[in-house]
Amino acid sequence: MRAKYKKWLGVSLVSGLLVALLYAWSPGTSSGVEIRPRQESLIKELLKGKIQDPISGNHDIVYHIKEDLACRLAQNTCVCLPDEETFQLPFSNLLFPRVWAHNFELAFLESHPDSKDIKHHRAEEYSNFQKRTYNPADVPIVAEANSPLQYPTQGVEVRPLKTIIIPGLGLKEETRSNHMVYLTASLGTFDVAATVDGVSVKGEGEKHMILSSPVLSTLNRQLQFVTYTNTVFHPKTADIVQFASDGHKSFFVIKVGHGTIPKLYNTGYQRGSCLCVFLFYLEYNISALVTIATKTFLRYDKLKDLIDSIRQYYPTVTIVIADDNEHPQPVTGPHIEHYIMPFGKGWFAGRNLAVSQVTTKYVLWVDDDFFFTANTKLERMVDILEKTTLDLVGGAVREVTGYTATYRHTISVEEGGEEGDCLHIRNGYYHVIEGYPNCVVADAVINFFMGRTDKVQEVGFNPRLARHGHLEFFIDALGSIHIGSCSDIIVNHASKIKLPWSKTDSQKAYEKFRYSSSSADNYIHKEVFYFKNRAFLAFSRLRILSGVRPSNLLISSLKKLRLP
Ligand SMILES: *[C@@H]1O[C@H](CO)[C@@H](O)[C@H](O)[C@H]1NC(C)=O
Repeated sequence: MRAKYKKWLGVSLVSGLLVALLYAWSPGTSSGVEIRPRQESLIKELLKGKIQDPISGNHDIVYHIKEDLACRLAQNTCVCLPDEETFQLPFSNLLFPRVWAHNFELAFLESHPDSKDIKHHRAEEYSNFQKRTYNPADVPIVAEANSPLQYPTQGVEVRPLKTIIIPGLGLKEETRSNHMVYLTASLGTFDVAATVDGVSVKGEGEKHMILSSPVLSTLNRQLQFVTYTNTVFHPKTADIVQFASDGHKSFFVIKVGHGTIPKLYNTGYQRGSCLCVFLFYLEYNISALVTIATKTFLRYDKLKDLIDSIRQYYPTVTIVIADDNEHPQPVTGPHIEHYIMPFGKGWFAGRNLAVSQVTTKYVLWVDDDFFFTANTKLERMVDILEKTTLDLVGGAVREVTGYTATYRHTISVEEGGEEGDCLHIRNGYYHVIEGYPNCVVADAVINFFMGRTDKVQEVGFNPRLARHGHLEFFIDALGSIHIGSCSDIIVNHASKIKLPWSKTDSQKAYEKFRYSSSSADNYIHKEVFYFKNRAFLAFSRLRILSGVRPSNLLISSLKKLRLP
């Protein structure tokens, strides 16, 4: 009787847990983090800075702050509050995941003997980074009201040290005895490509040029031939040009930079006859377009299952394997590249190595304990990457329990003060992709994804993250990679929930290596957030530093349950 009761209790707890996981990982519920206003006076200060009105004389006019909107403005110092812990039950964190606030300043600097030096060093590095990424074209410029000046507001570009004609210059004003305009630049000089009779031009070949004429129409004719020559080399910057008449001033930007060199892949695949239109994506030659990359450690049995399952569906696709086992075993077969690394080089180092060897247009990342089924349709991933502007698309991973995870997250950075910036990491996505009802756009996806090889290589995987890491790649990729996630492209996760006493020695060794987070490893994670990403706080419903997947959560929860 007691045994029966215990069993029932165990089963109901497990099913409760599954419901909780489904709840916690269900996509689309982007439960926001409150950024609560601190004091009204602070918001007022902030607004004052934001509304520098060039038309003076209205400073006394009263305004009313709309609080719910005002506190959504970037506050420039992140003071965001995590959820308060209201009650504590054994599984309350799973049922009602709290928002975790990780304070990296505390977590990282506390363990550091010379925290002042580190802070200073980070500030210096950040200041250099800002100098390197500064672009004058990003500086806001306001076109003042009622200017008689006509000029291009954007879209003027010159290659370094080359010359262009500035389009769109003109003057519209009442007739007077003399019409005059000035042009001033800092990284280049002005000239005229042709002269017009009756117009006086002073300062040709210089940074400051004056054009004047008693007749407005001849001056406007002359303005059509004004040239700009970039004289200071920089591969990517901008010159802010001042264009002025008596009493009126305007500014516009000339972008200076090399052209973009495209990176195109000659995949050799061609659309066949018009019949292909009816075959949709079946025309893609996956072997020519995709390389499958993985990293293995202590799990050759799983790796073999993965390779066998791939070969069932894609017999000639290339598989790149990065291997940092202490005693590597041969992994052979057609279209397999097996790269042996020094022992224990680690997770992200392996990802980096594997991805660096890919020569096809796309790379598919899989873990070594995944296996393909009929639902693992790589054609669908290729199709969405070929037909949209996405650079990377994640799929779904099906656990042995039947639970399928897509691990969709949005990430945002809130600019902070000296302490650092705030990272917000939330469950959810932005929007459904038109024409692909099962696909959405997000900032981070699961560890089963296909990406444009050059884009994934560009971001890279920080090889210092040895034991675990996943979100770190997507944090580095934020803003430079356009990411999607499709729930109908599914790979299976082979790791069965093994009770502790039925594990093989290699499984135990793997788990010991992977999930025992040494203090050195934790230190690196904190350092990456605090120093490399200059984050001060991170908000998420995940414990960033533990890097656990739902299945691992389940395993550890089951351990605690001690089923009979
Ligand atoms: C697909 O691509 C592979 C590798 O580039 C090539 O060997 C094969 O002939 C191609 N198959 C078809 C049907 O074009």
